[in-house]
Amino acid sequence: MPESDPRPLQRLCASADLAERGKAVSFDVIQWREPVRAFALRYEGQAVAYLNRCAHVPTEMDWQEGEFLDRDRRYIMCSIHGAAYEPLTGHCVIGPCQRGRLTKIELTEREGEVYWHPTRDTQPAFED
Ligand code: FES
Repeated sequence: MPESDPRPLQRLCASADLAERGKAVSFDVIQWREPVRAFALRYEGQAVAYLNRCAHVPTEMDWQEGEFLDRDRRYIMCSIHGAAYEPLTGHCVIGPCQRGRLTKIELTEREGEVYWHPTRDTQPAFED
Protein backbone atom coordinates (compact mmCIF):
# COMPACT_ATOMS: atom_id res chain seq x y z
CA MET A 1 0.00 0.00 0.00
CA PRO A 2 1.37 3.43 -0.86
CA GLU A 3 2.50 5.60 1.98
CA SER A 4 -0.26 7.83 3.23
CA ASP A 5 0.00 11.54 2.77
CA PRO A 6 -1.41 14.06 5.24
CA ARG A 7 -3.29 15.84 2.44
CA PRO A 8 -6.97 16.38 3.13
CA LEU A 9 -9.50 13.95 1.73
CA GLN A 10 -10.90 14.96 -1.63
CA ARG A 11 -14.63 15.00 -2.16
CA LEU A 12 -15.54 12.74 -5.05
CA CYS A 13 -19.32 12.56 -5.24
CA ALA A 14 -22.49 11.99 -3.30
CA SER A 15 -23.02 8.45 -2.06
CA ALA A 16 -26.25 8.34 -4.07
CA ASP A 17 -24.26 8.90 -7.28
CA LEU A 18 -22.82 5.39 -6.93
CA ALA A 19 -25.65 2.98 -7.58
CA GLU A 20 -25.10 -0.69 -6.78
CA ARG A 21 -23.27 -2.20 -9.79
CA GLY A 22 -24.15 0.92 -11.74
CA LYS A 23 -22.26 3.37 -13.86
CA ALA A 24 -18.96 4.59 -12.43
CA VAL A 25 -18.10 8.16 -11.52
CA SER A 26 -14.88 9.22 -13.25
CA PHE A 27 -12.38 11.67 -11.83
CA ASP A 28 -8.92 12.98 -12.61
CA VAL A 29 -5.78 12.48 -10.57
CA ILE A 30 -2.09 13.13 -11.01
CA GLN A 31 0.13 10.10 -10.55
CA TRP A 32 3.87 10.61 -10.71
CA ARG A 33 3.22 14.00 -12.34
CA GLU A 34 1.11 12.49 -15.13
CA PRO A 35 -2.64 13.04 -15.49
CA VAL A 36 -4.57 9.80 -15.12
CA ARG A 37 -8.27 9.06 -15.15
CA ALA A 38 -9.74 7.19 -12.23
CA PHE A 39 -13.17 5.79 -11.48
CA ALA A 40 -15.35 4.84 -8.55
CA LEU A 41 -18.25 2.43 -8.44
CA ARG A 42 -20.33 0.59 -5.89
CA TYR A 43 -20.22 -3.18 -5.55
CA GLU A 44 -21.90 -5.22 -2.81
CA GLY A 45 -22.62 -1.95 -1.07
CA GLN A 46 -18.99 -0.89 -0.95
CA ALA A 47 -17.64 2.13 -2.81
CA VAL A 48 -14.33 1.31 -4.51
CA ALA A 49 -12.04 3.30 -6.80
CA TYR A 50 -9.16 2.50 -9.13
CA LEU A 51 -7.02 4.19 -11.69
CA ASN A 52 -8.57 3.72 -15.12
CA ARG A 53 -5.54 1.86 -16.35
CA CYS A 54 -5.49 -1.79 -17.35
CA ALA A 55 -2.81 -4.05 -15.88
CA HIS A 56 -2.23 -5.57 -19.32
CA VAL A 57 -1.53 -2.45 -21.35
CA PRO A 58 -1.72 0.90 -19.57
CA THR A 59 -4.84 2.14 -21.32
CA GLU A 60 -8.31 3.19 -20.23
CA MET A 61 -10.72 0.31 -19.86
CA ASP A 62 -14.32 1.53 -20.08
CA TRP A 63 -16.24 0.65 -23.21
CA GLN A 64 -18.38 3.74 -22.78
CA GLU A 65 -17.76 6.60 -20.39
CA GLY A 66 -18.27 5.18 -16.90
CA GLU A 67 -19.16 1.65 -18.03
CA PHE A 68 -16.68 -0.78 -16.50
CA LEU A 69 -18.72 -3.81 -15.47
CA ASP A 70 -19.30 -6.80 -17.69
CA ARG A 71 -22.70 -7.85 -18.99
CA ASP A 72 -23.52 -9.76 -15.79
CA ARG A 73 -22.33 -6.82 -13.63
CA ARG A 74 -19.96 -9.25 -11.89
CA TYR A 75 -16.46 -8.13 -12.91
CA ILE A 76 -14.69 -4.97 -13.95
CA MET A 77 -13.83 -5.72 -17.55
CA CYS A 78 -11.32 -4.07 -19.83
CA SER A 79 -12.91 -3.27 -23.17
CA ILE A 80 -9.66 -3.67 -25.08
CA HIS A 81 -8.78 -7.36 -24.66
CA GLY A 82 -11.30 -8.54 -22.09
CA ALA A 83 -9.29 -8.75 -18.87
CA ALA A 84 -11.60 -9.24 -15.88
CA TYR A 85 -10.93 -7.86 -12.41
CA GLU A 86 -12.52 -8.57 -9.05
CA PRO A 87 -14.42 -5.35 -8.21
CA LEU A 88 -13.63 -5.28 -4.48
CA THR A 89 -9.89 -5.99 -4.77
CA GLY A 90 -8.88 -5.09 -8.31
CA HIS A 91 -7.17 -8.44 -8.76
CA CYS A 92 -7.17 -9.91 -12.24
CA VAL A 93 -9.28 -13.08 -12.38
CA ILE A 94 -9.01 -13.95 -16.07
CA GLY A 95 -7.50 -12.59 -19.26
CA PRO A 96 -4.20 -11.11 -20.33
CA CYS A 97 -3.83 -9.14 -17.08
CA GLN A 98 -2.57 -12.45 -15.60
CA ARG A 99 -1.55 -11.80 -11.98
CA GLY A 100 -1.86 -8.06 -12.29
CA ARG A 101 -4.18 -5.84 -10.39
CA LEU A 102 -5.71 -2.44 -10.75
CA THR A 103 -4.26 0.43 -8.76
CA LYS A 104 -6.65 1.06 -5.92
CA ILE A 105 -7.53 4.46 -4.55
CA GLU A 106 -8.75 4.39 -0.96
CA LEU A 107 -12.16 5.87 -0.32
CA THR A 108 -14.02 7.03 2.75
CA GLU A 109 -17.77 7.30 2.75
CA ARG A 110 -19.52 9.31 5.45
CA GLU A 111 -22.65 11.36 5.87
CA GLY A 112 -23.79 10.69 2.33
CA GLU A 113 -20.56 11.76 0.66
CA VAL A 114 -17.65 9.84 -0.88
CA TYR A 115 -14.06 11.09 -0.50
CA TRP A 116 -10.84 9.78 -1.94
CA HIS A 117 -7.49 9.65 -0.21
CA PRO A 118 -4.56 11.37 -1.93
CA THR A 119 -1.17 9.81 -1.37
CA ARG A 120 2.35 10.92 -2.04
CA ASP A 121 2.08 9.31 -5.49
CA THR A 122 -1.53 10.04 -6.39
CA GLN A 123 -2.73 13.58 -5.93
CA PRO A 124 -5.58 15.85 -6.92
CA ALA A 125 -5.46 16.93 -10.54
CA PHE A 126 -5.63 20.63 -9.77
CA GLU A 127 -2.30 20.60 -7.91
CA ASP A 128 1.17 20.81 -9.40
S1 FES B 1 -5.45 -3.52 -22.53
FE1 FES B 1 -6.82 -4.32 -21.05
S2 FES B 1 -6.86 -6.44 -21.47
FE2 FES B 1 -5.42 -5.66 -22.88
